[in-house]
Amino acid sequence: MTGGKELFAEIDSPAKLAKISEICRAAFARQKTRFLICAGTGCVAMGSLPVLAEFKRQIAERGLAVDVEMLFEGREAVTAAAGSGCHGFCEKGPLVRVEPQGIFYNKVKAEDVAEILAASLDQNSIVERLLYKNPDGSPCLTVHEVPFYSGQTRNVLERCGLIDPEDIREYFAHDGYQALAKALREYTPEQVIEIVSRSNLRGRGGAGFTTGKKWATCRRAPGDTKYVVCNCDEGDPGAFMDRSVLEADPHAVLEGMAIAAYAVGAERGFLYVRAEYPLAVARLQKAMEQAIKWKVLGENIMGCGFNFYPEIFQGAGAFVCGEETSLLASLEGGRGMPRMKPPFPAEEGLWKRPTVLNNVKTLAKVPKIIDQGADWFAATGTVKSPGTAVFALTGKIKNSGLIEVPMGITLREIVYGIGGGIINDGKFKAVQTGGPSGGCLPEELLELEVDFDSLRSAGSMMGSGGMVVLDEKSCMVDIARYFLEFTVHESCGQCTPCRDGIWQMLHILNDITAGKGRPEDLALLEEMGKSIIAGAICGLGKTAPNPVLSTLRYFRPEYEAHIQDKACPALNCQELIAYQIDPNKCKACGRCRKECPVEAIKGEKKTPHVIEQSKCCKCGICLETCPAKFSAVSKITGKHGDGSLASIDR
Ligand SMILES: Cc1cc2nc3c(=O)[nH]c(=O)nc-3n(C[C@H](O)[C@H](O)[C@H](O)COP(=O)(O)O)c2cc1C
Ligand code: SF4
Ligand code: SF4
Ligand code: SF4
Repeated sequence: MTGGKELFAEIDSPAKLAKISEICRAAFARQKTRFLICAGTGCVAMGSLPVLAEFKRQIAERGLAVDVEMLFEGREAVTAAAGSGCHGFCEKGPLVRVEPQGIFYNKVKAEDVAEILAASLDQNSIVERLLYKNPDGSPCLTVHEVPFYSGQTRNVLERCGLIDPEDIREYFAHDGYQALAKALREYTPEQVIEIVSRSNLRGRGGAGFTTGKKWATCRRAPGDTKYVVCNCDEGDPGAFMDRSVLEADPHAVLEGMAIAAYAVGAERGFLYVRAEYPLAVARLQKAMEQAIKWKVLGENIMGCGFNFYPEIFQGAGAFVCGEETSLLASLEGGRGMPRMKPPFPAEEGLWKRPTVLNNVKTLAKVPKIIDQGADWFAATGTVKSPGTAVFALTGKIKNSGLIEVPMGITLREIVYGIGGGIINDGKFKAVQTGGPSGGCLPEELLELEVDFDSLRSAGSMMGSGGMVVLDEKSCMVDIARYFLEFTVHESCGQCTPCRDGIWQMLHILNDITAGKGRPEDLALLEEMGKSIIAGAICGLGKTAPNPVLSTLRYFRPEYEAHIQDKACPALNCQELIAYQIDPNKCKACGRCRKECPVEAIKGEKKTPHVIEQSKCCKCGICLETCPAKFSAVSKITGKHGDGSLASIDR
């Protein structure tokens, strides 16, 4: 780390931390222009690392005060380019922010770097073509003008994208480890628990259990050896909230863990991270090494006599290992199988010792609660679900990415405000929250306020923050089938209701989507779902029927169409659709015949073409290739008793 050696000194007291923070803050402020290139997984996949390398190369080539990191040597004009954590608006990556102005560039390529540097450093201007454009074409100059960001309240994500996660000094410059110092210096462990309890922080891992209560139980539990475990498993398909926080602000999670450890009386902690998150693991590892070196973690932290040693454990990536008792079994070296509760981990957890187990975001929220107080936290969100919620907003939404919103925001504000509405101005059909254990909520519930309890009473759940938006082309029966297929695959197989029950439900759904459903299947699905919820050992089985039950509750006519009309109204289920050529519209141009991969289309010159249904593999190429001026091919589904088509789409 350039320039850090002069400064480096072990932090042997909270006062020393305050002094070092001051120096770091000043160094940070000296950076006249700072280019932040998103180096989160999404932007890296879209090519942000060559962009970062190009920034560094060209800044060096310009012979500027070359440092690409923070400087601590008192030099003046400093230009910095740093790889930051996730900025959130993954859809538009690679993303670049120019600070302190907050200029926001999207879809940046290495070839654009010279122009950006010239605009920022030579001409005091902006590169308009790289700015985000509103739907009406007007450009957004700064990040604060971009609707995706302006509708958010960034708290956990506050530093994500703004600091270099690989340099602890940037965390120090943003009050890093001050909350831990405050806890160690000013509060007893009981007082820390009291503050967290008063804030009414609820766990962000899914169930929304009160964090203060969990910590108090662990503190009270007999025994000298206790542990803190951070659940970084994040197994929901499409979810990347926890990964982004770990990659972008790893010290916040570590500081939260240390505060939890102090509160409950633990000295050791584990971060259970899935091995598919190599960047998160690398950043955590680096953050831990730096924090131990600076003595804000490890032995005799900041000279306060408190020790905390965190370790990383890489999990093999089973969804069920996110369940707390299963995670602990895996951490102990056993097979990741849930066990009955009670006893709860806070009483009897890792190696049968009292263990506090919290989600990444729960722990990342803790430092600010200690720093700013319980009332500050409780002032955002709703009374029963205070604070903010982080969602991975995906699906048929214009602006997908990582968002943070106050609890109590409506679904409509998320989908149409931050998300910008449905892709291609399509029609909204449903929003799925809570990952594979959640439910699908219809348009009538767009005004629903998002919090733990309202989502649950609507038949869904908060989960750890997946939010998938579905449009009219999504078949709700197939969506339920997809999630059930996932949970069947991930079930540990230990208890009968889950192992056999959800498997049976999946078979029924397979039949329905294949046009073999029976009218009595719907009641059977409901009955089975309720029995599985009542009888399964762990949360996986207890929530697996949710997608089916919620779609039956809100989209029943779609199930009935599959069963009675053998039709898929969304024209999605392969076995219920067909392609057809209208002989009155077909001009026999032959294009579809040439493109059909299985030679299913027959026809001569000047003769309307015909699809041989027994050969057709339903690839849809003929629909795409038939010229719009003819529009002779249709996708059809379902037949009524008189043989008329139930649904047609061009
Ligand atoms: C099948 C299943 C998977 C889970 N996966 C996760 C996960 O990936 N991350 C997580 O924090 N919690 C997950 N949970 C919830 C955990 O069991 C636990 O409640 C949570 O980590 C506690 O942390 P919190 O109090 O901070 O929410 C899962 C639960 C179940 C039943
Ligand atoms: S509910 Fe499913 S995942 Fe949970 S213990 Fe039973 S079989 Fe295993
Ligand atoms: S859907 Fe595909 S396979 Fe079927 S007729 Fe059209 S092009 Fe051929
Ligand atoms: S592409 Fe269209 S118009 Fe041409 S032969 Fe096929 S169906 Fe007829």
